[in-house]
Amino acid sequence: MQEDQQSQQDPAFRIPPFSARLLEPARGRLSDRGIDPDQRLGVDEVGAEITTARFYLLLGIFAASEKAGQGPTYAIARLALRAGLPREIADTLFLAYNQQSAEEAGHGDKVFGNAYYSMGGVPTDSSLSVFGDGGAEFLEPDSDPRVNRQRLEEVAAVLGGIETVALQRALPNVNGLCERWNHPIGNDVMTQIRDVVRPEESRHVLNYRYVFHRLIAPAGQRQIDAYFHATNAGRMQLDAPPLDRDRFARTVGATAPTAAQLLGKR
Ligand SMILES: [Fe+2]
Ligand SMILES: [Fe+2]
Repeated sequence: MQEDQQSQQDPAFRIPPFSARLLEPARGRLSDRGIDPDQRLGVDEVGAEITTARFYLLLGIFAASEKAGQGPTYAIARLALRAGLPREIADTLFLAYNQQSAEEAGHGDKVFGNAYYSMGGVPTDSSLSVFGDGGAEFLEPDSDPRVNRQRLEEVAAVLGGIETVALQRALPNVNGLCERWNHPIGNDVMTQIRDVVRPEESRHVLNYRYVFHRLIAPAGQRQIDAYFHATNAGRMQLDAPPLDRDRFARTVGATAPTAAQLLGKR
């Protein structure tokens, strides 16, 4: 898994061009706080300069999008209790997704949201999220446990796809930009990515693996195919290329992680 993440990073990193309507106020806010908005930190996938101002808006996107993960993960933790699952699996999924929900809020508010605020003096808002506001009304429990189980499985796969992109592409790229910026705010983001975000996102991929091995694989090929396609639908939400079958197999791994691993308690 570790090796796979390093050897198969997706090279391209799409950063929105951002309209002048967003960029101009962003440049003003950075200047007000003594940050040069036009420092060059790199180039994006189409060769355009990534300035401090674009990087700042990117952190706002990260903050809002991570925060949007809080609602759906909180909802599927609760769906796991209404999905007709064996007690041990229901318990494990509830604890793991309930914890993931808190961690996504932590990434959104504590790591990227606070960095965004520190750079510009205004909070991020859900209009910057690539997933909308993270409302999870569609995950309200149904009276039929089979419906709940199916929703849980589908959302677990979509989230897993998103996590793989975060780990293999988004976080390494943000890290590189922070490195080149070499500013106390960016250096703090790097430390938090290393110590908090990466280890937690890696565990979120374990949740995805757990669902695969405990619920999907035993149910047969049709369910495996659905999990594969929903994973790629999640990656597509971030404009990332789909996994092929081999890479999917390596990502779900050979066995289910233990409940202790999912919670980071070894
Ligand atoms: Fe996250
Ligand atoms: Fe995550």
